[in-house]
Parts: sequence; structure tokens; C-alpha cells
Amino acid sequence: MATVVPVKQGAEARLLDIDFGGRPAFAKQRFKKAYRHPVLDERLTARRVTQEARTMLRLRRAGIDAPALFLLDTANSIIYVERIEGDTVRDVLRGGVDDAQFEAIARAIGADLAKIHDMDLIHGDLTTSNMMLRHGTRKLVWIDFGLSYTSTLAEDKGVDLYVLERAIQSTHPNQAKAMVRHAGRAWRGTLLTPWNKFDGIIRQYTADSKNAQPVIRKFEEVRLRGRKRTAFG
Ligand SMILES: Nc1ncnc2c1ncn2[C@@H]1O[C@H](COP(=O)(O)OP(=O)(O)OP(=O)(O)O)[C@@H](O)[C@H]1O
Ligand SMILES: [Mg+2]
Repeated sequence: MATVVPVKQGAEARLLDIDFGGRPAFAKQRFKKAYRHPVLDERLTARRVTQEARTMLRLRRAGIDAPALFLLDTANSIIYVERIEGDTVRDVLRGGVDDAQFEAIARAIGADLAKIHDMDLIHGDLTTSNMMLRHGTRKLVWIDFGLSYTSTLAEDKGVDLYVLERAIQSTHPNQAKAMVRHAGRAWRGTLLTPWNKFDGIIRQYTADSKNAQPVIRKFEEVRLRGRKRTAFG
């Protein structure tokens, strides 16, 4: 490990660009939380690091792209993974994509998420910063599985979808406004807004998942609860 370049220091983890035996790698170290009981903290941190590694391996085995795991250092809560040469979906969308590009990304997300959920895996932190597109191929790669867990429940999968919908809406407020402006008119064209862009994800998910119906029902339920809370809370 020759070069070590700190990339980012967040609230939960320190991220480093490193060289892992000649391969571009990414190290993620979770730190201790001073406010948490040390024993509890150690256990939670260890669980997140292990879960992150386990999910990554499970996904790759199932043919879903995630960084390759190089090393898991549980004693120091560090995970060493392949560094993806690419951009987060968040940055790609922010940079501006046309409707066809968005549709392709949405379909890729929906297709992969259907597979992930059919394995009874819940991502737990579905934001557009936790998906990347590889440079060149523009293929979707999933990252950040520290909050992932296994569950067969439609509700857990529905919440995963809901969190993602909220994340997409909050990163693209301008497009959301455009939708509201047009909503009053009898617009029948192919107006692509975050709503029907997200529908692209749902459409693909519904087509691909073996268990889509109850999940989508739960997703709509959770979404409705969320709106009521915003409207009346
Ligand atoms: N394997 C990787 N290769 C390249 N970049 C990565 C990789 N993993 C993460 N990143 C970049 O670092 C960012 C943060 O990583 P990650 O999501 O794993 O950690 P985090 O602590 O959850 O941070 P965040 O606060 O963004 O959620 C990602 O959004 C991405 O831009
Ligand atoms: Mg993240």
C-alpha cells in the first residue's frame, strides 16, 4: 500500500484512496462514536463493517455489480474495496442527462433492485450517492451497504423504494417544480418528470421482480403515510 490519499471524512467514516498491491482501491474506516457506550459502539461498528462486506459478496455472486472486496479488517473497522472509476448517479443526474439517458439509468436501477429484493436483501440506504456509473461502460455499480440487512417482508422492500424516491426528488427539485407547473394543464405528452422518471424504476422493478405486487402496494402505502405527515403534521 504505497499512496494513501484521504478523500472524505464524513460523520461515520473516513474514506481513503489507496493503492492495494497495485490496484486502485478505496478504504473505508468507520470510527468510534464518543457518545456511544464503547462496547455497544464496537458491536454496532463491527456489524456494519461485516454486513457491508457480506452484502457486497452476495451481490457480486448474483451478478450484480458492486466493488470487489480486497480485505476486511474487522479489528480496525476498515474495509478495502476496488475503487470504482466512475461517478455517483447523483453527480451524473446533477450534471444533466437527457430523458433517454435517465430512462436507461432508471431501468438499470429497477432491474437490479428487483434482483436484490428477490434475494431478500434490503439496501437500507438507497440514495443516488450510493450508486455509481462506471466510466466508459456507464454500467451501474452499487455501493455503501453498511445499513443493509436481510428481510422477506414486503414492507421493508417498499420502504427501500420509498427512500429512493425521496432521494431522487430531493436531488432534483427543479424538475419536480416543472411537474407541478404542468400538472394544472391537460398535458398528455410524454412529460418526463421525477415522478414518471421514478415510474421508470417502478415499471422495470414490477416487470422483473417475482414478488413485485405486495412490495409496490406497501411502497404506495408508505408514500401515502409520508404525504399525510407532510400535509397535516
Ligand atoms: N468503491 C468505491 N470507489 C469509488 N468511489 C467510492 C467507492 N465507494 C464509495 N465511493 C465514493 O465515496 C462516497 C461515500 O462512500 P459511501 O457511501 O460508501 O460512504 P458513506 O459513509 O455512506 O458516505 P455518505 O455520507 O456519502 O453516505 C460515495 O458516495 C462515492 O462517491
Ligand atoms: Mg453513502
